[in-house]
Amino acid sequence: MATRVASQAAYRALVRELLEHDRRYHVENAPIISDFDYDVRYRALVDTERAHPDWIESHSPTQRIGHTPLSAFEKVTREVPMLSLDNTYSEDELSAFHERVVKGLEGVQPAYVVEPKIDGIGIELSYEDGRFVRGTTRGDGTTGEDVSNNLRTMRALPLLLEEPISVEVRGEVFMDRAAFERVNAARVAAGEEPWKNPRNATGGGLKLLDSREAARRPMRLFTYEVVVRGGSPEPPARTHFALLAWMRKLGLPVSADVERVSSFAELSRAIHGWADRRLQLPYAVDGVVVKVDDLTQRRLLGTTNRAPRWAIAYKFPAEQATTTLVHLEYNVGRTGAVTPLGHFDPVELGGTTVKRASFFNWNQIRRLDVAIGDKVLIEKAGEIIPYVLTVVERGRHRQEIVEPVRCPSCGTALVREEGEVVLRCPNGFGCPEQRARAIEFFCTRDAMNVENVGPKLVEQLVDAGLVSDVADLFDLTVDKLLPVDRMAQKSAENVIASIEKARAGATLSRLLVGLGIAKIGEVWARAVAERYQTLAALVAADPVVLEEELQQLHGFGAERASAVAGYLREPRNRVLLERLMQRGVSPSEPVSSQTGPLSGVSICVTGTLSRPRGDIQAAIEAAGGRFDKSVKKGTTYLVAGADVGAAKLKDAEKKGTRVIDEAALDRLLQNEAPPQGS
Ligand code: IVH
Repeated sequence: MATRVASQAAYRALVRELLEHDRRYHVENAPIISDFDYDVRYRALVDTERAHPDWIESHSPTQRIGHTPLSAFEKVTREVPMLSLDNTYSEDELSAFHERVVKGLEGVQPAYVVEPKIDGIGIELSYEDGRFVRGTTRGDGTTGEDVSNNLRTMRALPLLLEEPISVEVRGEVFMDRAAFERVNAARVAAGEEPWKNPRNATGGGLKLLDSREAARRPMRLFTYEVVVRGGSPEPPARTHFALLAWMRKLGLPVSADVERVSSFAELSRAIHGWADRRLQLPYAVDGVVVKVDDLTQRRLLGTTNRAPRWAIAYKFPAEQATTTLVHLEYNVGRTGAVTPLGHFDPVELGGTTVKRASFFNWNQIRRLDVAIGDKVLIEKAGEIIPYVLTVVERGRHRQEIVEPVRCPSCGTALVREEGEVVLRCPNGFGCPEQRARAIEFFCTRDAMNVENVGPKLVEQLVDAGLVSDVADLFDLTVDKLLPVDRMAQKSAENVIASIEKARAGATLSRLLVGLGIAKIGEVWARAVAERYQTLAALVAADPVVLEEELQQLHGFGAERASAVAGYLREPRNRVLLERLMQRGVSPSEPVSSQTGPLSGVSICVTGTLSRPRGDIQAAIEAAGGRFDKSVKKGTTYLVAGADVGAAKLKDAEKKGTRVIDEAALDRLLQNEAPPQGS
């Protein structure tokens, strides 16, 4: 059990300790405590903040995720514009750059720093007295957008530097390849267009108005420049390489793959070395950036309007290959989206053998006018799944691709909604393929987390007729599993144990995610779950009332409310939920610790206030707080209206509950701490 700390000094020390562990884990990749120990400390922090909301520091790790979605991003104009880089694609061009630099330095041979060029989103971070105060996108270079809320959610971003200095740094936000694929798989499963590359996925992530959603995008960042402006103190280093070391010491994430070279020959060797090295990194690198190391030399070289003269990007050629399209597979996703996947003659590309490449959608097939038997050019530019660029030669016996009219799994006529590119099978759970995908999704880590039940097993279970909806999973037994191909006693026991664990341990929000209700991901599932607490209560609710109530939840919106109500109105779904409950799947939702300005706070209300008691209760609960009917031990605040009896106040005092007025409650609902002593 986590224990809260007793003094404000201990609280501050705990904040710093956790920030340090964030840094060790996410920046240095070298944690010194286990995840469990981290969680224990984190819970102690949450408990402490719950008991002392007035202690909460803006750089506490609990403050990474905001509560209130923004309506727009603020524009920020910067004094020192963010420039771009000139590109080169060959060693000759690189040599020409080197000669220009030597000429600019009147014959002096410079040393260079070689850094990976990550194709992400350029950002600027501002720190004041060591505290993170703002982060902006590049925008047009001079004017960017304030995306601080989303940047704060990245645990690699230090909220507090190791020294209380004021500094602005620039860097790149990006996504690892594996993370990008996860994000895309989830999008495809939800019937959305996949992002074309990690850069777009990251750009989209930074532009989310709700930072709770951004927090779910696995974004990372590196910093690579310090902003030096006229009049500001000299940076504490004479070279870029030393500056990077200093940034690292401040706790900023700096790539470990930075090299210093002192001649063109070394530079050339370093660049050749990257051909293999780039494939070892977890993120896509589309080139290297070559920068003059000496900061005085940089100043001498200066910049053009567009780009510095002291740096250049050397871009790796995108990896392409030609191969023949031999077959087109139709995949049916969880939501019925039918998407084309090309199968090709195996070909070497970027260090792996490629047999499949995606066409993003049917439009693209039409646009490319591609047919089975055609020779096509495929490209892999960082993404793991390559895609088809063009047709290079039409096959002699080409076989035209016709858009399917019926679902390849169940034969139902496919539909395409107005303005959509996606072809969809409307048969839902009646379609075996969708059913399998839905069951598979139900078991994933993001949903019910049924370990040991992956796509392969689900396919087998569905084929064997053992499982045809998610409720059937809970009827499985070791004996029923044993006849399944390659299923040994021990593995069958493991599967059953995992299912048991999910039955007993899942929360209502995980179940709601697992059901795959349109537009309801983790964040909104939690909002619904916190409002209704148990599956039984949710099923019992009148859908009309429920729709209205959900709309009242902060940020929820009419579309989502109608999606949830629509799901619950559908008789098929009601039967499924009943069947789940009959099988002992009746999860409830723990009181949240992190989802609203009042999370972890309990409030009791007394006396005459400006609005009905029910409205106040709803507002408190929507903000993640608990509404107490009477003051109990542990009630955080008593909101006293007019004409409150002295006895009530005395009682509150005795129980350690702070008494506040309605104005202070409103401030709390707005996510501000009430003034001391109010
Ligand atoms: S230096 C004025 N260093 O590439 C100096 N940029 O194509 C410009 N980028 O806008 C920034 N990795 O967003 C620098 N190691 C690196 C970089 C890098 C990626 C991005 C950056 C820049 C773009 C230019």
